[in-house]
Amino acid sequence: MNDIAVEIETGGELQRVDVPDNIALSLMELLKGMEIKGIEGTCGGMALCATCHVRILSAEPPLPPAGDEELNMLDTLPVVYTNSRLACQIRLAPGQQQIRLCVP
Ligand code: FES
Repeated sequence: MNDIAVEIETGGELQRVDVPDNIALSLMELLKGMEIKGIEGTCGGMALCATCHVRILSAEPPLPPAGDEELNMLDTLPVVYTNSRLACQIRLAPGQQQIRLCVP
């Protein structure tokens, strides 16, 4: 078992948490558990609400690309960035080493 370094930029501060790679959570579930401002996860992770919108600043290795459901939901946002993702669609899984993000 290895750890995944999750780094969150919020309001000029950087929070870092190391989570075991077998934690079996989505990134949204982790951020919600940490009570990160701006992450609501209203739909419970079904890619139906976009209240888990984050911007991925870096990831090692790179994250799998967004699927159609995620892209369609991102399209409904008034402002979307090239690095926008739905945190609920990102699994914290073995092999991932690092993710750095901010909440738009
Ligand atoms: S929690 Fe609803 S889209 Fe991610």
